Amino acid sequence: MIMENTPGIVAYCCEWGGYSSADQAGRLGIPLPTGIRVVEVRCVGQVDAGALIEPFLHRAHGVLLAGCRVERCHYLTGNIMARGRVDLAQRLLALCGVDPRRVRLAWLEAADGEGFARETDDFTRTLAPLGHPVPGEDTALSLMAALMASEAEKLRWLAGVGYDLKKTGNVFGRVLSEEEFSRALDEVVRDAFLQARLLLLLKQSPRTSRELAEAADEDVGRVSGVITLLEKEGKVRHHSSVDGLPRFAAEGI
Ligand code: FES
Repeated sequence: MIMENTPGIVAYCCEWGGYSSADQAGRLGIPLPTGIRVVEVRCVGQVDAGALIEPFLHRAHGVLLAGCRVERCHYLTGNIMARGRVDLAQRLLALCGVDPRRVRLAWLEAADGEGFARETDDFTRTLAPLGHPVPGEDTALSLMAALMASEAEKLRWLAGVGYDLKKTGNVFGRVLSEEEFSRALDEVVRDAFLQARLLLLLKQSPRTSRELAEAADEDVGRVSGVITLLEKEGKVRHHSSVDGLPRFAAEGI
């Protein structure tokens, strides 16, 4: 089994497709790009969006999900679910200013060593010109916000049911087009990301809505709306006042 521990690409490989292929590449002596860290999982469907984002906080350059081909998943739809999670992670990464091409999904036959080498080689070539994804503190804070946002209940639910909404429709039988689903998901992703970002900024120091808007480079009206919501949910509390304006602090994060 060829496996490098140097930072670079984290490759989540399902036991049946990706891992058996990586293993076969090792057995046959097929060279793989250096810097790949293979993480064996039962099925790529068990890898959530947060696990696709977190490696970037630990200096990974790219994250690969290597699963089985369509209709070959041993858990039936794990590879389809993985597609939704990759989509979600890519949208969140784009909001952090991180190139979404840094996360990739590959579908492989069992024990396809050549295929695994081809996929990892191609991915390495895509990543090479992109450089390091976390150049500064601001990106690191955004990545932490993306990680937090990926845990938001509404977001997880929407990413999970996306395939059904596009194929069989909602409870009223209405099937969503790709564009409709994409728009709905985008809105929820943006809201969850902003909420997480504001909470992290408030954890750093108490701020007014205006100070938050400046720090987050957001519209002050939108920030005030989110703060009101977070206050109702008990995630933000009034901390102090400055020039008659309330300063807020984050609760319990
Ligand atoms: Fe390979 Fe599910 S077992 S993708």
